[in-house]
Formats: sequence, C-alpha cells, structure tokens
Amino acid sequence: ENGVYKFFYDGVWRKSSSGKSVTIINPTTRKPHFRVQACTQEEVNKVVETAKLAQKSWAKTPLWKRAELLHKAAAILKEQKAPIAECLVKEIAKPAKDAVTEVVRSGDLVSYCAEEGVRILGEGKLLVSDSFPGNERTKYCLTSKIPLGVVLAIPPFNYPVNLAVSKIAPALIAGNSIVLKPPTQGAVAALHMVHCFHLAGFPKGLISCVTGKGSEIGDFLTMHPSINCISFTGGDTGISISKKAGMIPLQMELGGKDACIILEDADLDLAAANIVKGGFSYSGQRCTAVKVALVMESVADTLVEKVKAKVAKLTVGAPEDDCDITPVVTESSANFIEGLVMDAKQKAATFCQEYKREGNLIWPLLLDNVLPDMRIAWEEPFGPVLPVIRINSVEEGIHHCNASNFGLQGCVFTRDINKAILISDAMETGTVQINSAPSRGPDHFPFQGLKDSGIGSQGITNSINMMTKIKSTVINLP
Ligand code: G3H
Repeated sequence: ENGVYKFFYDGVWRKSSSGKSVTIINPTTRKPHFRVQACTQEEVNKVVETAKLAQKSWAKTPLWKRAELLHKAAAILKEQKAPIAECLVKEIAKPAKDAVTEVVRSGDLVSYCAEEGVRILGEGKLLVSDSFPGNERTKYCLTSKIPLGVVLAIPPFNYPVNLAVSKIAPALIAGNSIVLKPPTQGAVAALHMVHCFHLAGFPKGLISCVTGKGSEIGDFLTMHPSINCISFTGGDTGISISKKAGMIPLQMELGGKDACIILEDADLDLAAANIVKGGFSYSGQRCTAVKVALVMESVADTLVEKVKAKVAKLTVGAPEDDCDITPVVTESSANFIEGLVMDAKQKAATFCQEYKREGNLIWPLLLDNVLPDMRIAWEEPFGPVLPVIRINSVEEGIHHCNASNFGLQGCVFTRDINKAILISDAMETGTVQINSAPSRGPDHFPFQGLKDSGIGSQGITNSINMMTKIKSTVINLP
C-alpha cells in the first residue's frame, strides 16, 4: 500500500485538513491499493473560488496560446501513458493494453480539441437587421462565443482519464476553468493526468482536482453557486444532480441498455464478432456495451452458436495479463450482476455457459431465451453477462428497444441498407450503428442519449459549443 495521494489546486499538491483519506480497493486483489485525500467542504470552497478567479484572466488569454498549452498537455499525457495505464490496471482492473489505449486516445482527444477550438471559436457571425420585416439596415449584430466560467467535470470509473479529458479539454479551449471530481476508483490515474496538465504550464488555479467522499462533498460541489456548468458521466446519480443543480447548463451521460437487432439477412459472422466485442470488452463495463441482443428466431440458433464459440475463446483473469475478462470494479457490482443472473435462472433462461464467479471475477455468460419478465431484459448489468431475446418480427425488436427507459445507442445488422435506415429512424436512441457494435468514438462524433440516458450532446465539437454562450454586440446606426 502506498501513501495518501494529494489533491490539487492553485498549482500546488496538498493534504486535506480533514486528516482523512478514501481507500481505493484493487478489484483484482480486493485489497487496499491507494489512498486519496478526503477533502472537506471548506476546501471545495477554496478550490472553486480559486477556479473562479483564474478563469477571468484565462478567458483573455489568446485562443492560440490556449491551444498551444493543450497540445503540450496532450504530448505529456502520451509520454506518461505507462504509469497512468498502470494505475488504471490497479484501480479499475482495465486490461493492460486497453489501459494504454485509453491514455493515448485521451492525448489525441486533447490535441483534436485544441485544433477544433481554434477553428470554431475563431469564427463569429455578423447579422444585419433588414432581413427581418419592418427593419432598415441600421443594426449590425456581431456574435461570438464566450466561456461560461467554472466547469465541474465528473467522469465515471470506467474511463477516469478519457472521460475526464473529454470534459477538461473543451472547457479549457473555450476559456473556462475546471474543477475535476474524479471517481474514487480511477482517482489516482486522474491525479496523474492532472499532473500532465500542470507540467504543460497552465496558469495556477485553472485546473483543480478534489477527491473525497460523495456523501461529504458531492452535493456541495454540484450545488455550489460558483459552478457555472456541470459535465457528468455516470449512473443514476446524474438524475439527482440534474434535479438539484441550479440554472446552469448540464451535460449528462447516464448509461444505457444498448440493443443489437439482428435481421434474417444479416452477416451472422460479423454480427457475432460485434456482439462479443460490444458485449464483453472491458467485461461489459461500458455505457455503450451491447446489453441485449434481439435476434430473429429463424437465425437465432446459428447466431447463438457463433457467439458461444467466440465467448469460449475469451480469456478470463487478471488485467495485468491483459485478459479479455477481468474482475468487475467492486464487490457490490459483482453482487448486483449475480442478482440479475440468479433472477434469470429462476425464470428459466437458457445458460449457454455455466455461471462462475471468483471474488469480483465473473466468467462471460450468454443467456439465451430471455423473456421480458426477467430483470436482465431491462436492467444494465455493467458486467460480462449478455441476454439474447428471440424475436419474430423487426417491430418486436424495435418495441423492446423503445420500451426501455434508456436511449443511448443501438445497432442493427442487416445487408439491406434501406431497412437499416428505417430501423435507425424508429429506434429511440441517440445513435444507431449499422453493422457495428455501439461505441462513442471516434471522439469528435456527436455522442448523446435520449430519455434517462442523458442531457445534451457530447463529442468534441458539441462539448466546446455547450461550454460557451453566445454574446452579441449590436452596432446601431443613426
Ligand atoms: O462508458 C461510456 C463511454 O462513454 C463509452 O465509451 O464507447 O468508447 O467505450 P466507448
């Protein structure tokens, strides 16, 4: 066990005055691995006030300079990929290679954001008054995009680095300051990432990172009067945050139950490969994981066999060994997943493999003949368990997809592009992938959920726009 990692504000790494810490349990060993400071509300106040002050001069810093610093941070982040990835392996049991990919992807995101920012923020608009009835050309309206102020970024455990920078970089390029509250598991990886930004030379106070217990500082942060925008990715907590937050822009991504609809004319090998990749990568702990396969009855036997054969090849074990399936993030998460599996068992789903669990490690499991009365048909396991529901018509599949409270992504496998587009139009989700598993990236694509899956749209361009306001100056001629 290492010492207690410090939190960061005003350009300095600090110990909390609470004298308390939060322990990060390694999901693989189930033993304490790291500790971070348990910050107090008083410290949150100081952090937010410092961020508020630092933002004022940052907003006046030329756009090209802001971009330059972001490019620097991106390069340092990539240089530091090994130690950061190592934290991801220990804190969230992300397979070693995927952990490195997360950091590299994050560096790319930061650079892209710098480039996109100088383009879209470097442009304004000029409107003339005489296009509206009754007006002469006596008014010229100049518009530009101005920052919001202090942006609060709250990423989830599954991408503590990537889903942090996807909020930090757009906020900074747009002239905002950042207060980051990382998830407990993933906090040390996030602190390392923040250090990369610090090394890049951003002004003091512009980026802060507070750690601690949600119960102590969660509401205090999200309801803080000096916070001007919240960008949150996670679970149900987002719903309560959005109810309590003040009159500020919110960006929320709160999970999904992404459906995969497989038609009779689908390329079944392609579908099977994507179901396995979509359903089981990072052990199903992705909001965009395939969480239910809706398969036409006539091809279901063949497809299930193909998926089963691929599941049998997945390696199960430690993230250090780069296994496909690694322990899920906490014991309570493993218990929740087990609850869904037991419910399906009781209600007679077909188990394509034997259910097996050791500690937080759950072997990949495909459940066939799942029926709508089973919890797994509707709930998000966030684990390596995938239900298959057999359908007799496309309408039945669309109906199941749309009956969900979630509406993040979905996918459809067919060789008939016309059908695919009609199905995409009918699915009430933020994105539909044709002939591929759901996924957020590439990171400049728009990313949004309908219904309980979220508020607003992410993706680099949308996030930059969301973290700005339009300001107009009108020139009135005599
Ligand atoms: O967990 C939610 C993430 O936004 C999903 O990202 O599709 O790149 O895995 P991903």
